[in-house]
Amino acid sequence: MNRRNFFKLSAVLSAYLIGGTNSLNASKLIIGAKLSIPTLLDPKPINGIKQFDLNIQEASHNFFKDIKTKTLGINASYLGPTLLLRDGEKVSINFTNNLDETTTMHGHGMHLPAIMDGGVHQEIEPGDTWSAQYTVKQKACTNWYHPHRMNMTARQVYFGLAGLIIVEDKESKALNLPKTYGVDDIPLVIQDRLFDMNAQLSYSPHPRQIMHGFRGNVIITNGQIIPRHEVKVGMVRLRILNGSNAGMYKFSFSDNRKFHQIATDNSFLEEPVELKSVLLSPGERAEIVVDLSKDKNKSLNLIVNEQIDNFNQIILTLDVNNKDSKIKTLPKILTKLEDLNPDDAVHTRTFLLDGWGNRGNPLLTINGKRMNPMVVNEIVPINQLEIWEIKNLMGMPHNFHIHATHFRPLDRNGSEFEILDNEKGYKDTIYIPAKQSVRFLVKMIDYADDEAEYMYHCHFLEHEDAGMMGQFVVTNNKKET
Ligand code: C2O
Ligand code: CU
Ligand code: CU
Repeated sequence: MNRRNFFKLSAVLSAYLIGGTNSLNASKLIIGAKLSIPTLLDPKPINGIKQFDLNIQEASHNFFKDIKTKTLGINASYLGPTLLLRDGEKVSINFTNNLDETTTMHGHGMHLPAIMDGGVHQEIEPGDTWSAQYTVKQKACTNWYHPHRMNMTARQVYFGLAGLIIVEDKESKALNLPKTYGVDDIPLVIQDRLFDMNAQLSYSPHPRQIMHGFRGNVIITNGQIIPRHEVKVGMVRLRILNGSNAGMYKFSFSDNRKFHQIATDNSFLEEPVELKSVLLSPGERAEIVVDLSKDKNKSLNLIVNEQIDNFNQIILTLDVNNKDSKIKTLPKILTKLEDLNPDDAVHTRTFLLDGWGNRGNPLLTINGKRMNPMVVNEIVPINQLEIWEIKNLMGMPHNFHIHATHFRPLDRNGSEFEILDNEKGYKDTIYIPAKQSVRFLVKMIDYADDEAEYMYHCHFLEHEDAGMMGQFVVTNNKKET
Protein backbone atom coordinates (compact mmCIF):
# COMPACT_ATOMS: atom_id res chain seq x y z
CA MET A 1 0.00 0.00 0.00
CA ASN A 2 1.40 3.39 -0.87
CA ARG A 3 1.71 6.19 1.67
CA ARG A 4 -1.14 8.17 0.26
CA ASN A 5 -3.53 5.27 0.71
CA PHE A 6 -2.29 4.79 4.20
CA PHE A 7 -2.93 8.37 5.24
CA LYS A 8 -6.40 8.32 3.77
CA LEU A 9 -7.02 5.13 5.61
CA SER A 10 -5.67 6.42 8.88
CA ALA A 11 -7.99 9.39 8.77
CA VAL A 12 -10.87 6.95 8.75
CA LEU A 13 -9.50 4.50 11.22
CA SER A 14 -7.76 6.98 13.49
CA ALA A 15 -10.11 6.62 16.43
CA TYR A 16 -9.34 2.93 16.70
CA LEU A 17 -6.12 2.14 14.98
CA ILE A 18 -3.64 4.93 15.52
CA GLY A 19 -1.39 4.95 18.57
CA GLY A 20 -2.81 4.03 21.92
CA THR A 21 -2.28 0.90 23.89
CA ASN A 22 -5.19 -1.02 22.45
CA SER A 23 -4.61 -4.36 20.92
CA LEU A 24 -5.93 -2.68 17.79
CA ASN A 25 -3.48 -0.39 16.09
CA ALA A 26 -2.22 0.25 12.60
CA SER A 27 0.22 -2.65 12.77
CA LYS A 28 -2.76 -4.99 12.95
CA LEU A 29 -4.04 -4.06 9.52
CA ILE A 30 -3.59 -6.82 6.98
CA ILE A 31 -1.93 -4.76 4.29
CA GLY A 32 -2.32 -5.92 0.73
CA ALA A 33 -4.53 -8.92 1.45
CA LYS A 34 -5.79 -10.67 -1.66
CA LEU A 35 -9.52 -10.08 -2.11
CA SER A 36 -11.39 -13.09 -0.85
CA ILE A 37 -14.02 -14.25 -3.30
CA PRO A 38 -17.00 -16.01 -1.71
CA THR A 39 -17.04 -19.67 -2.80
CA LEU A 40 -19.47 -20.56 -5.58
CA LEU A 41 -21.50 -23.24 -3.85
CA ASP A 42 -21.68 -26.45 -5.83
CA PRO A 43 -25.25 -27.78 -5.74
CA LYS A 44 -26.04 -31.51 -5.66
CA PRO A 45 -28.96 -32.40 -7.91
CA ILE A 46 -31.53 -34.79 -6.43
CA ASN A 47 -34.42 -35.74 -8.75
CA GLY A 48 -33.72 -32.77 -10.96
CA ILE A 49 -33.75 -30.31 -8.08
CA LYS A 50 -30.49 -28.56 -7.31
CA GLN A 51 -29.76 -28.78 -3.59
CA PHE A 52 -27.73 -26.02 -2.00
CA ASP A 53 -26.71 -26.86 1.57
CA LEU A 54 -25.96 -23.96 3.85
CA ASN A 55 -24.91 -24.04 7.49
CA ILE A 56 -25.52 -20.98 9.59
CA GLN A 57 -22.92 -21.00 12.32
CA GLU A 58 -20.97 -19.13 14.97
CA ALA A 59 -17.42 -18.46 13.85
CA SER A 60 -14.41 -16.24 14.23
CA HIS A 61 -12.83 -14.25 11.44
CA ASN A 62 -9.55 -12.45 10.82
CA PHE A 63 -10.42 -8.87 9.97
CA PHE A 64 -7.07 -7.99 11.58
CA LYS A 65 -3.72 -9.72 11.76
CA ASP A 66 -3.53 -12.39 14.48
CA ILE A 67 -6.83 -11.33 16.04
CA LYS A 68 -9.91 -13.50 16.06
CA THR A 69 -13.13 -11.53 15.88
CA LYS A 70 -16.32 -13.34 16.90
CA THR A 71 -18.68 -13.51 13.95
CA LEU A 72 -21.54 -15.42 12.37
CA GLY A 73 -21.11 -17.02 8.98
CA ILE A 74 -22.68 -19.40 6.49
CA ASN A 75 -20.35 -22.28 5.51
CA ALA A 76 -17.64 -19.69 6.25
CA SER A 77 -16.29 -17.52 9.04
CA TYR A 78 -17.99 -14.39 7.74
CA LEU A 79 -20.72 -13.97 5.09
CA GLY A 80 -21.70 -17.00 3.00
CA PRO A 81 -21.07 -18.65 -0.36
CA THR A 82 -22.48 -17.31 -3.62
CA LEU A 83 -25.40 -19.24 -5.10
CA LEU A 84 -25.50 -19.37 -8.89
CA LEU A 85 -29.10 -19.94 -9.98
CA ARG A 86 -30.27 -20.34 -13.57
CA ASP A 87 -33.58 -19.12 -14.90
CA GLY A 88 -35.97 -22.08 -15.27
CA GLU A 89 -34.26 -24.50 -12.92
CA LYS A 90 -35.70 -26.02 -9.76
CA VAL A 91 -33.73 -25.31 -6.61
CA SER A 92 -33.87 -26.24 -2.96
CA ILE A 93 -31.82 -23.95 -0.78
CA ASN A 94 -31.43 -25.73 2.53
CA PHE A 95 -30.49 -23.61 5.52
CA THR A 96 -29.47 -25.38 8.73
CA ASN A 97 -29.47 -23.20 11.82
CA ASN A 98 -26.53 -24.15 14.02
CA LEU A 99 -26.91 -21.04 16.18
CA ASP A 100 -28.53 -21.07 19.60
CA GLU A 101 -31.01 -18.46 18.46
CA THR A 102 -33.86 -18.42 15.95
CA THR A 103 -33.22 -16.96 12.54
CA THR A 104 -34.80 -16.82 9.08
CA MET A 105 -33.16 -16.58 5.64
CA HIS A 106 -34.73 -14.36 3.00
CA GLY A 107 -33.96 -14.37 -0.73
CA HIS A 108 -33.76 -10.64 -1.38
CA GLY A 109 -34.75 -9.94 -4.98
CA MET A 110 -35.90 -13.50 -5.66
CA HIS A 111 -39.26 -13.95 -7.34
CA LEU A 112 -40.79 -16.79 -5.33
CA PRO A 113 -43.89 -17.90 -3.41
CA ALA A 114 -44.42 -16.09 -0.10
CA ILE A 115 -43.99 -19.28 1.93
CA MET A 116 -40.51 -19.67 0.39
CA ASP A 117 -39.60 -16.05 0.97
CA GLY A 118 -37.78 -16.50 4.27
CA GLY A 119 -39.41 -13.44 5.76
CA VAL A 120 -40.45 -13.08 9.40
CA HIS A 121 -42.84 -16.06 9.23
CA GLN A 122 -40.42 -18.76 8.07
CA GLU A 123 -38.51 -19.09 11.32
CA ILE A 124 -35.70 -21.61 11.58
CA GLU A 125 -35.30 -22.81 15.15
CA PRO A 126 -31.86 -23.82 16.46
CA GLY A 127 -30.95 -27.24 15.05
CA ASP A 128 -33.59 -27.12 12.33
CA THR A 129 -33.23 -27.03 8.56
CA TRP A 130 -35.53 -24.94 6.39
CA SER A 131 -35.62 -25.20 2.61
CA ALA A 132 -36.55 -22.52 0.13
CA GLN A 133 -37.82 -24.57 -2.81
CA TYR A 134 -38.91 -22.93 -6.01
CA THR A 135 -38.37 -22.64 -9.73
CA VAL A 136 -36.14 -19.75 -10.69
CA LYS A 137 -38.22 -17.48 -12.87
CA GLN A 138 -36.66 -14.09 -13.49
CA LYS A 139 -34.10 -12.14 -15.46
CA ALA A 140 -30.38 -12.28 -14.81
CA CYS A 141 -29.35 -10.14 -11.84
CA THR A 142 -27.43 -10.00 -8.58
CA ASN A 143 -29.51 -10.79 -5.50
CA TRP A 144 -28.65 -11.75 -1.95
CA TYR A 145 -29.82 -13.70 1.07
CA HIS A 146 -29.90 -12.55 4.66
CA PRO A 147 -31.83 -13.12 7.91
CA HIS A 148 -35.21 -11.45 8.37
CA ARG A 149 -36.17 -12.39 11.91
CA MET A 150 -38.71 -10.04 13.46
CA ASN A 151 -36.86 -7.29 15.40
CA MET A 152 -33.55 -9.17 15.11
CA THR A 153 -32.48 -8.72 11.51
CA ALA A 154 -29.97 -5.93 12.04
CA ARG A 155 -27.86 -7.77 14.63
CA GLN A 156 -27.74 -11.04 12.73
CA VAL A 157 -26.70 -9.36 9.49
CA TYR A 158 -24.18 -7.19 11.32
CA PHE A 159 -22.30 -10.21 12.65
CA GLY A 160 -21.96 -11.67 9.17
CA LEU A 161 -25.08 -13.44 7.94
CA ALA A 162 -25.48 -12.56 4.27
CA GLY A 163 -24.46 -13.94 0.89
CA LEU A 164 -24.92 -13.29 -2.80
CA ILE A 165 -27.22 -14.96 -5.30
CA ILE A 166 -26.34 -14.62 -8.97
CA VAL A 167 -29.21 -15.30 -11.36
CA GLU A 168 -28.21 -16.25 -14.89
CA ASP A 169 -30.42 -16.47 -17.96
CA LYS A 170 -30.01 -17.02 -21.71
CA GLU A 171 -29.35 -13.33 -22.27
CA SER A 172 -26.66 -12.99 -19.64
CA LYS A 173 -24.93 -16.09 -21.00
CA ALA A 174 -24.97 -14.77 -24.55
CA LEU A 175 -23.79 -11.22 -23.83
CA ASN A 176 -20.15 -10.47 -24.44
CA LEU A 177 -19.48 -9.23 -20.91
CA PRO A 178 -16.82 -10.16 -18.36
CA LYS A 179 -18.33 -13.23 -16.68
CA THR A 180 -15.63 -15.35 -15.14
CA TYR A 181 -16.64 -15.38 -11.49
CA GLY A 182 -13.97 -14.03 -9.19
CA VAL A 183 -11.64 -13.23 -12.09
CA ASP A 184 -13.14 -10.46 -14.21
CA ASP A 185 -16.66 -10.70 -12.73
CA ILE A 186 -16.04 -9.75 -9.14
CA PRO A 187 -18.58 -9.98 -6.33
CA LEU A 188 -18.24 -7.20 -3.73
CA VAL A 189 -20.24 -7.15 -0.51
CA ILE A 190 -19.64 -3.73 1.04
CA GLN A 191 -20.45 -3.07 4.70
CA ASP A 192 -19.34 -0.70 7.43
CA ARG A 193 -18.45 -2.06 10.83
CA LEU A 194 -17.47 -0.76 14.24
CA PHE A 195 -14.72 -2.64 16.06
CA ASP A 196 -14.09 -2.23 19.78
CA MET A 197 -10.68 -2.01 21.50
CA ASN A 198 -10.29 -5.76 21.25
CA ALA A 199 -11.20 -5.84 17.59
CA GLN A 200 -14.56 -7.37 18.37
CA LEU A 201 -17.66 -6.32 16.48
CA SER A 202 -19.62 -3.98 18.58
CA TYR A 203 -23.36 -3.85 18.02
CA SER A 204 -25.43 -2.27 20.75
CA PRO A 205 -27.14 0.66 19.14
CA HIS A 206 -28.41 3.32 21.50
CA PRO A 207 -31.74 4.97 20.67
CA ARG A 208 -30.09 7.66 18.57
CA GLN A 209 -28.36 4.99 16.49
CA ILE A 210 -31.63 3.17 16.01
CA MET A 211 -33.23 6.41 14.89
CA HIS A 212 -30.43 7.41 12.51
CA GLY A 213 -29.22 3.92 11.59
CA PHE A 214 -26.11 2.19 12.93
CA ARG A 215 -22.88 2.85 11.06
CA GLY A 216 -19.31 1.86 11.79
CA ASN A 217 -16.10 3.66 10.93
CA VAL A 218 -14.42 0.99 8.82
CA ILE A 219 -15.77 -0.14 5.48
CA ILE A 220 -15.12 -3.78 4.71
CA THR A 221 -15.15 -5.55 1.37
CA ASN A 222 -16.10 -9.24 1.46
CA GLY A 223 -15.10 -9.13 5.13
CA GLN A 224 -11.69 -7.53 4.52
CA ILE A 225 -10.19 -4.09 5.01
CA ILE A 226 -8.92 -2.67 1.71
CA PRO A 227 -8.08 -5.89 -0.14
CA ARG A 228 -6.39 -6.00 -3.55
CA HIS A 229 -7.38 -7.90 -6.65
CA GLU A 230 -5.26 -8.57 -9.75
CA VAL A 231 -6.96 -8.18 -13.13
CA LYS A 232 -6.03 -8.31 -16.81
CA VAL A 233 -5.88 -5.37 -19.19
CA GLY A 234 -9.43 -4.84 -20.44
CA MET A 235 -12.97 -4.70 -19.07
CA VAL A 236 -13.70 -5.65 -15.48
CA ARG A 237 -17.16 -6.17 -14.03
CA LEU A 238 -17.94 -5.46 -10.39
CA ARG A 239 -21.16 -6.76 -8.81
CA ILE A 240 -21.61 -4.43 -5.89
CA LEU A 241 -24.01 -4.98 -2.99
CA ASN A 242 -24.47 -2.34 -0.34
CA GLY A 243 -24.78 -4.90 2.44
CA SER A 244 -24.58 -2.37 5.25
CA ASN A 245 -27.15 -1.85 7.97
CA ALA A 246 -27.54 1.87 7.31
CA GLY A 247 -24.59 3.20 5.31
CA MET A 248 -25.28 5.32 2.20
CA TYR A 249 -22.44 4.65 -0.19
CA LYS A 250 -21.31 6.63 -3.20
CA PHE A 251 -18.81 4.58 -5.22
CA SER A 252 -16.21 6.11 -7.52
CA PHE A 253 -12.64 5.53 -8.72
CA SER A 254 -9.61 7.32 -7.33
CA ASP A 255 -8.92 9.10 -10.63
CA ASN A 256 -12.60 9.95 -11.05
CA ARG A 257 -12.74 8.02 -14.32
CA LYS A 258 -15.96 7.17 -16.07
CA PHE A 259 -17.39 3.68 -15.98
CA HIS A 260 -20.65 2.04 -17.05
CA GLN A 261 -23.44 0.67 -14.95
CA ILE A 262 -24.95 -2.35 -16.69
CA ALA A 263 -27.45 -3.68 -14.13
CA THR A 264 -29.71 -2.53 -11.33
CA ASP A 265 -31.19 -4.68 -8.54
CA ASN A 266 -33.22 -7.07 -10.67
CA SER A 267 -32.14 -6.79 -14.29
CA PHE A 268 -29.70 -5.42 -16.80
CA LEU A 269 -30.28 -1.83 -17.85
CA GLU A 270 -31.46 -1.74 -21.47
CA GLU A 271 -28.15 -0.12 -22.37
CA PRO A 272 -25.03 0.68 -20.35
CA VAL A 273 -25.23 4.01 -18.50
CA GLU A 274 -22.06 6.09 -18.26
CA LEU A 275 -21.31 7.43 -14.78
CA LYS A 276 -18.54 8.81 -12.61
CA SER A 277 -20.16 7.61 -9.39
CA VAL A 278 -22.99 5.41 -8.29
CA LEU A 279 -25.01 5.76 -5.11
CA LEU A 280 -26.35 2.69 -3.33
CA SER A 281 -28.57 2.70 -0.27
CA PRO A 282 -28.66 -0.40 1.98
CA GLY A 283 -29.79 -3.50 0.08
CA GLU A 284 -29.36 -2.02 -3.41
CA ARG A 285 -27.07 -3.58 -6.03
CA ALA A 286 -25.28 -2.27 -9.08
CA GLU A 287 -23.23 -4.10 -11.65
CA ILE A 288 -20.61 -1.83 -13.16
CA VAL A 289 -17.97 -2.35 -15.82
CA VAL A 290 -14.74 -0.37 -15.75
CA ASP A 291 -12.40 -0.14 -18.70
CA LEU A 292 -8.80 -0.89 -17.67
CA SER A 293 -7.45 -1.26 -21.19
CA LYS A 294 -5.08 1.70 -20.74
CA ASP A 295 -3.92 0.72 -17.27
CA LYS A 296 -1.33 -1.97 -17.88
CA ASN A 297 0.83 -2.44 -14.76
CA LYS A 298 -1.09 0.26 -12.90
CA SER A 299 -3.32 0.24 -9.84
CA LEU A 300 -6.68 1.82 -9.39
CA ASN A 301 -8.61 2.36 -6.16
CA LEU A 302 -12.34 2.01 -5.73
CA ILE A 303 -13.52 4.54 -3.15
CA VAL A 304 -16.64 4.92 -1.07
CA ASN A 305 -17.94 8.19 0.23
CA GLU A 306 -20.28 7.40 3.09
CA GLN A 307 -22.91 10.08 2.62
CA ILE A 308 -24.38 10.38 6.10
CA ASP A 309 -21.26 10.49 8.30
CA ASN A 310 -19.40 11.91 5.29
CA PHE A 311 -16.08 10.12 5.14
CA ASN A 312 -14.06 8.57 2.32
CA GLN A 313 -12.37 5.22 2.29
CA ILE A 314 -10.62 3.11 -0.27
CA ILE A 315 -12.46 -0.21 -0.38
CA LEU A 316 -10.57 -2.12 -3.07
CA THR A 317 -7.37 -1.77 -5.08
CA LEU A 318 -7.39 -3.23 -8.59
CA ASP A 319 -3.89 -4.16 -9.73
CA VAL A 320 -3.78 -4.41 -13.51
CA ASN A 321 -1.16 -6.87 -14.78
CA ASN A 322 0.30 -6.98 -18.29
CA LYS A 323 -1.87 -9.74 -19.74
CA ASP A 324 -4.58 -9.02 -22.25
CA SER A 325 -8.21 -9.72 -21.47
CA LYS A 326 -10.50 -10.88 -24.28
CA ILE A 327 -13.17 -8.34 -23.42
CA LYS A 328 -12.31 -4.86 -24.61
CA THR A 329 -15.71 -3.36 -25.45
CA LEU A 330 -19.21 -3.31 -24.04
CA PRO A 331 -22.37 -4.43 -25.87
CA LYS A 332 -24.55 -1.44 -26.83
CA ILE A 333 -27.81 -3.21 -25.99
CA LEU A 334 -28.07 -5.39 -22.90
CA THR A 335 -31.72 -6.35 -22.67
CA LYS A 336 -35.29 -5.32 -23.39
CA LEU A 337 -37.44 -4.55 -20.39
CA GLU A 338 -41.20 -4.71 -20.14
CA ASP A 339 -42.81 -1.39 -20.96
CA LEU A 340 -45.37 -0.42 -18.37
CA ASN A 341 -47.69 2.51 -19.03
CA PRO A 342 -48.65 4.53 -15.94
CA ASP A 343 -51.99 5.31 -17.60
CA ASP A 344 -52.84 1.62 -17.31
CA ALA A 345 -52.43 1.68 -13.52
CA VAL A 346 -55.80 1.07 -11.86
CA HIS A 347 -54.89 1.63 -8.25
CA THR A 348 -52.56 3.83 -6.18
CA ARG A 349 -51.34 2.93 -2.71
CA THR A 350 -49.63 5.48 -0.51
CA PHE A 351 -47.04 4.65 2.12
CA LEU A 352 -45.99 7.34 4.60
CA LEU A 353 -42.65 6.76 6.27
CA ASP A 354 -42.56 8.44 9.65
CA GLY A 355 -41.15 8.07 13.12
CA TRP A 356 -40.36 9.70 16.40
CA GLY A 357 -38.20 9.13 19.43
CA ASN A 358 -40.43 7.74 22.12
CA ARG A 359 -38.39 8.30 25.30
CA GLY A 360 -35.52 6.16 24.25
CA ASN A 361 -37.61 3.72 22.26
CA PRO A 362 -37.69 5.00 18.69
CA LEU A 363 -40.88 4.13 16.88
CA LEU A 364 -40.66 3.95 13.12
CA THR A 365 -43.82 3.52 11.16
CA ILE A 366 -45.42 3.12 7.76
CA ASN A 367 -48.84 4.80 7.53
CA GLY A 368 -48.70 5.35 11.28
CA LYS A 369 -48.29 1.67 12.13
CA ARG A 370 -45.37 -0.46 13.17
CA MET A 371 -44.94 -3.90 11.68
CA ASN A 372 -47.27 -6.41 13.30
CA PRO A 373 -46.78 -9.97 12.00
CA MET A 374 -50.47 -10.67 12.76
CA VAL A 375 -51.72 -7.86 10.52
CA VAL A 376 -51.98 -7.86 6.73
CA ASN A 377 -51.63 -4.24 5.73
CA GLU A 378 -52.30 -4.52 1.98
CA ILE A 379 -54.17 -6.98 -0.20
CA VAL A 380 -52.87 -6.77 -3.75
CA PRO A 381 -54.76 -8.38 -6.66
CA ILE A 382 -52.62 -10.45 -8.98
CA ASN A 383 -51.81 -8.97 -12.41
CA GLN A 384 -53.10 -5.52 -11.48
CA LEU A 385 -50.85 -2.66 -12.50
CA GLU A 386 -50.52 -0.30 -9.54
CA ILE A 387 -48.71 2.85 -8.55
CA TRP A 388 -47.09 2.78 -5.14
CA GLU A 389 -46.28 6.19 -3.75
CA ILE A 390 -43.77 6.36 -0.92
CA LYS A 391 -43.47 9.59 1.03
CA ASN A 392 -40.62 10.13 3.44
CA LEU A 393 -42.02 12.55 6.01
CA MET A 394 -38.84 12.60 8.07
CA GLY A 395 -35.75 14.79 8.01
CA MET A 396 -33.54 11.76 7.39
CA PRO A 397 -33.10 9.39 4.48
CA HIS A 398 -34.91 6.08 4.13
CA ASN A 399 -35.35 3.61 1.37
CA PHE A 400 -38.15 1.24 0.43
CA HIS A 401 -37.90 -2.41 -0.52
CA ILE A 402 -40.59 -4.85 -1.62
CA HIS A 403 -40.49 -8.62 -1.68
CA ALA A 404 -42.16 -10.78 -4.37
CA THR A 405 -41.26 -8.91 -7.51
CA HIS A 406 -39.50 -5.91 -9.01
CA PHE A 407 -40.89 -2.44 -9.69
CA ARG A 408 -40.20 0.40 -12.14
CA PRO A 409 -39.45 3.88 -10.77
CA LEU A 410 -41.87 6.47 -12.19
CA ASP A 411 -41.02 9.80 -10.60
CA ARG A 412 -39.44 11.53 -7.59
CA ASN A 413 -41.14 14.51 -5.99
CA GLY A 414 -43.55 14.46 -8.92
CA SER A 415 -40.82 14.75 -11.56
CA GLU A 416 -39.91 11.93 -13.90
CA PHE A 417 -36.61 13.73 -14.58
CA GLU A 418 -35.49 12.98 -11.04
CA ILE A 419 -35.39 9.28 -11.86
CA LEU A 420 -31.81 8.71 -12.93
CA ASP A 421 -30.91 6.74 -16.06
CA ASN A 422 -29.26 4.13 -13.88
CA GLU A 423 -32.52 3.56 -11.98
CA LYS A 424 -34.40 2.59 -15.14
CA GLY A 425 -33.87 -1.16 -14.82
CA TYR A 426 -35.93 -3.47 -12.65
CA LYS A 427 -35.55 -2.39 -9.02
CA ASP A 428 -36.56 -3.87 -5.67
CA THR A 429 -35.14 -1.19 -3.38
CA ILE A 430 -35.20 2.57 -3.90
CA TYR A 431 -33.59 5.47 -2.09
CA ILE A 432 -35.79 8.24 -0.67
CA PRO A 433 -33.88 11.25 0.69
CA ALA A 434 -35.28 13.30 3.60
CA LYS A 435 -38.70 14.83 2.94
CA GLN A 436 -38.86 13.43 -0.58
CA SER A 437 -41.27 11.11 -2.30
CA VAL A 438 -41.04 8.50 -4.99
CA ARG A 439 -43.61 6.68 -7.10
CA PHE A 440 -43.13 3.38 -8.87
CA LEU A 441 -45.15 1.02 -11.03
CA VAL A 442 -45.59 -2.52 -9.81
CA LYS A 443 -47.54 -5.61 -10.78
CA MET A 444 -47.72 -8.87 -8.82
CA ILE A 445 -47.44 -11.44 -11.56
CA ASP A 446 -47.46 -14.79 -9.71
CA TYR A 447 -47.99 -16.77 -6.56
CA ALA A 448 -51.37 -15.56 -5.29
CA ASP A 449 -51.85 -16.86 -1.74
CA ASP A 450 -54.27 -15.16 0.66
CA GLU A 451 -52.66 -16.89 3.61
CA ALA A 452 -48.99 -16.02 3.16
CA GLU A 453 -47.50 -12.59 3.56
CA TYR A 454 -44.69 -10.80 1.81
CA MET A 455 -43.02 -7.79 3.41
CA TYR A 456 -42.24 -4.24 2.35
CA HIS A 457 -39.99 -2.07 4.44
CA CYS A 458 -37.22 0.44 4.81
CA HIS A 459 -33.96 -1.47 4.30
CA PHE A 460 -32.07 0.54 6.90
CA LEU A 461 -32.04 -2.48 9.18
CA GLU A 462 -32.42 -0.58 12.44
CA HIS A 463 -35.52 1.07 10.98
CA GLU A 464 -36.96 -2.22 9.80
CA ASP A 465 -36.42 -3.72 13.26
CA ALA A 466 -37.93 -0.63 14.93
CA GLY A 467 -41.16 -1.13 13.00
CA MET A 468 -40.83 0.51 9.57
CA MET A 469 -42.20 -2.54 7.78
CA GLY A 470 -45.57 -3.87 6.65
CA GLN A 471 -47.10 -6.94 5.04
CA PHE A 472 -49.06 -7.66 1.90
CA VAL A 473 -50.65 -10.69 0.32
CA VAL A 474 -51.21 -11.32 -3.37
CA THR A 475 -54.76 -12.41 -4.09
CA ASN A 476 -56.74 -13.87 -6.98
CA ASN A 477 -59.80 -12.07 -5.69
CA LYS A 478 -60.23 -8.99 -7.89
CA LYS A 479 -62.52 -7.10 -5.52
CA GLU A 480 -60.09 -6.78 -2.67
CA THR A 481 -57.81 -3.83 -2.97
CU1 C2O B 1 -33.33 -7.56 2.02
CU2 C2O B 1 -37.16 -7.74 3.38
O1 C2O B 1 -35.25 -7.68 2.77
CU1 CU C 1 -36.21 -8.63 0.33
CU1 CU D 1 -35.44 4.02 7.14
